[in-house]
This record gives sequence, C-alpha cells and structure tokens, in this order.
Amino acid sequence: MLGIESSCDDTAAAVVTEDLDVLSNVISSQMEIHNRYGGVVPEIASRVHVAEIVPVIDAALKQAHARPRELSAISVTKGPGLIGSLLVGIAAAKGLALVWKKPIIAVNHLEGHLASVGFGGGRLTYPVLVLLVSGGHTLLARTTAPGTHQILGATRDDSVGEAYDKVSCLLNLGYPGGPIVDRMALKGTDRFPFPRPLLKQGLDFSFSGLKSAVAHHLRKSLSSAPEDVAASFATAVMDVLLEKIAMALAQAPYGSLAVVGGVAASPILRERLADLKRRTGVEICLPPLKMATDNAAMIAAAAWPRFRSGAIDSLDFGADPGLSLSEGGGDV
Ligand code: KG4
Ligand code: ZN
Repeated sequence: MLGIESSCDDTAAAVVTEDLDVLSNVISSQMEIHNRYGGVVPEIASRVHVAEIVPVIDAALKQAHARPRELSAISVTKGPGLIGSLLVGIAAAKGLALVWKKPIIAVNHLEGHLASVGFGGGRLTYPVLVLLVSGGHTLLARTTAPGTHQILGATRDDSVGEAYDKVSCLLNLGYPGGPIVDRMALKGTDRFPFPRPLLKQGLDFSFSGLKSAVAHHLRKSLSSAPEDVAASFATAVMDVLLEKIAMALAQAPYGSLAVVGGVAASPILRERLADLKRRTGVEICLPPLKMATDNAAMIAAAAWPRFRSGAIDSLDFGADPGLSLSEGGGDV
C-alpha cells in the first residue's frame, strides 16, 4: 500500500505491507521554512508540497524496492487539514491511481493517527478510549469498533500541540514547540501554579487560558528560568490530560486506552501514562515514537482494512479540511 500524506507541513509517502511492515517511510519536513514565522504558513506549505510531492513518492517507492505494478492500492489523506496542502497530495494520488490503474482509498488523517498504534505491535481491545493529542486536535473518543467513534470531549479552543507551540514561541524556543518545550521541562522544576482549565468539569478541554497564563507570567517576571516555566506548563497540561482520562475510564468500561497524535511523542506524557498503567493496570497502546507525529505509513495502515473490505473510493472525492473523527471512517 502506497500512503501519501500532505495535510499540514510534512510531505510524506510510505509503502506498508498488509502485515504493517514499513518498507519505506519518507518525510520531507518544512519545519525550517516555517520556523522563522513561529508556525505553519498555509500558502507557503502548499507551494512546498507541490515541489516535494513527486520526489518524496519516488523516494518512498525506491526505498521500498516497490514497482508501481506491485502496489495493491494508493491511499491518501483527504482531511482534516489545510485545504491547499491536502489538495496537493490528493491530486498526486489521483493522478497516479489513474495512470497506474490502481484503486484509491481516501483516509481520514485522524484514523491514520489511531492506526499508528499498530506499528507498536499494540492490539486494540474494544471498546477503546482514544486520546488524540496533536497540533490540530485534542479529543477523547469512545471507539466501539474500527471506524465507529463517539466523541466524548474535545478542546473548546487551542489543541495541546498548539499550546506547546505557542508557549515555545513565547519562550523564543522555535517551532515545532512540543519537543523543544519538553526537553526544557525535563531540566526544570514545576514551581509556578499555572491553571488546570476545566479540570473536573466534564470531558472537554481548554488550553488557551493556560497559554495566556504563561504569557502573563513571563510579562511580569522576566527573570523566570525558562526551564521552570516549561516544567510548570507541561505539568499543568499533563495533569489535565491524565485527569480527563481517569474521568472517562470511570464513566464506562474500556478494553484499552490508545494515546495518539504528535503529543504522544512526549516523554513527559509517556511517563505519566506508564504511572497510570502501574496504578490501574489499564492496557495502553501508543505508537512508536517516530510514528506519533505526522507520517504517511499511518495513512497506509489505516487504508489496509478498508482495502480488504472493498471500501474503494471513486476518483471524484475532494479534500475535506474539517473532517471529524466520527465521519468518514464508519465503513471500515
Ligand atoms: O500529529 P502531528 O504531527 O500533526 C497534527 O496532525 O497536528 O502533531 C504535531 C504537534 C505539534 O504541535 C508539536 O509541537 C507536537 O505535536 N509535538 C509534541 C512533541 N512532539 C511533537 N508535543 C509535546 N511533546 C513532544 N515530544
Ligand atoms: Zn496529525
């Protein structure tokens, strides 16, 4: 399965076997280009995708020693994401599907993140409590079967990744902020009492106030050690995530907990999850570190069950920038 992903600022292509062996996983990151703006500039992202998409797909096929005719199908992210970025991957996938006469499978990016746990050898036991924490999303879902989700709660404003990125910007640390702020946090002490928004109030999240609290703190005490600010911020975020997980687990029975999305790469989050597992015995499925952030292998992994069930798309589908988790995956 060839996977193509271009929903945000990474141009990615991968070849993945039915057993989820990753034969290639090529990612051309635009990080350095967007770094100077402190975040992704959509118009620049689409233009860079146009330049990168063909070389990246070519490299993925070469590294996998896969010839086009050996492919079972071509899968591509149809949403959610930036419209201009999505269109580039979709146009490339459609063109190749036409020329190579291959079936095409349009994949929900969020289903891709969920499928990424398969690369860690993790087997989901349904119903699954899903915590999706990425740059674009923060949500909790109850997944009763592959592709069948009930959203339990979501962020009302910023996502966790976005909060990380904005705090990184406030601390002048660069983009993407997650890994940088985490590294800083590991060297610091949690000593500033930042707010834990909506802590015991249902399963929705809110992170923009936390980010504003960090901004306010930095304005009034310029001498604060950035390590301690980062540690206090990360602890506040993790306290909220862990509390919401505990609340959801108490509300209904679950077979396993899956934590996916870019922030699932956080060593601080992983440590807190390991602690949760020690205390409660809950089975936790995580993607391998390098599969947590955006990649095309997860798109191919999500496409395999759809291919097996014959859920092939016609060539007239379009990009769907606002696609949600409960839509578009129900036919798996
Ligand atoms: O899933 P992803 O690659 O893209 C989206 O679908 O949004 O997530 C990207 C987000 C960024 O906001 C980035 O700062 C965050 O994931 N991230 C992390 C870490 N690595 C990436 N956040 C916290 N700790 C990390 N180690
Ligand atoms: Zn993503």
